[in-house]
Amino acid sequence: MTLQEFCKEFEGILKSGDQGWMDRGRDLVGRLAADSGWFGEVLERIILDPGASDQKPSIWPNEIAVYRCPEFTLLAYLWQERQADIIHDHGSWGIIGAMKGPILERKYDRLDDGGRESYAELKETVALTLQKGQTTSVLPLDEGIHRMENLGTGIGITTNAYGKGLKRGFIRFFDPESRSCWKAYPPSRLKQVLAIRVIQDVSGASGNGVLKKALEKSASPVLKKEIESVLNSEK
Ligand SMILES: [Fe+2]
Repeated sequence: MTLQEFCKEFEGILKSGDQGWMDRGRDLVGRLAADSGWFGEVLERIILDPGASDQKPSIWPNEIAVYRCPEFTLLAYLWQERQADIIHDHGSWGIIGAMKGPILERKYDRLDDGGRESYAELKETVALTLQKGQTTSVLPLDEGIHRMENLGTGIGITTNAYGKGLKRGFIRFFDPESRSCWKAYPPSRLKQVLAIRVIQDVSGASGNGVLKKALEKSASPVLKKEIESVLNSEK
């Protein structure tokens, strides 16, 4: 299957609105992952044109952008030997296919109601190993908390299709041992968020002035929330 054939057929499945779209989508992503010849061209682009405008820095440094359209985004991830990501949620549904495995997925249920900032209780529910051509899926927010790990020798590869995002501006990372969770921002936003959180420590009261100015200026709800949280914790 070519990448173009996949994209056309996958878009058709999503637009059909059929009840079984997720199963059909998984079947198609599985076939794309099993027949990974198309991926050579993607790797070639990364090697010869690493600064291409579609390869923006992401929360995940091992991420490669493959294709974007209004209905979905197709990404790929290169996993170093033994590499695992941090337990996380998602801002959309996702279908993940193993192109070079085995890749282990652990899924988690969230047991608390999310009412306490930075607190989360998780319970592992599923541990499944994906071989080449096999797929798994996630749903947005607490319905899709998971973690992936490359169990293979050498570099593992997954290809991941995601739907339209919720535009939260972050995803959530989890640590079940300390029962904690935190917001993970993309690199383009992270510096600003950290500066917001620390300016009072460095500049004292004048830092408050800067935050208030930023509050008036900022159109981004996620940054406004960060600023308000710092200003409110001062009171
Ligand atoms: Fe994920």
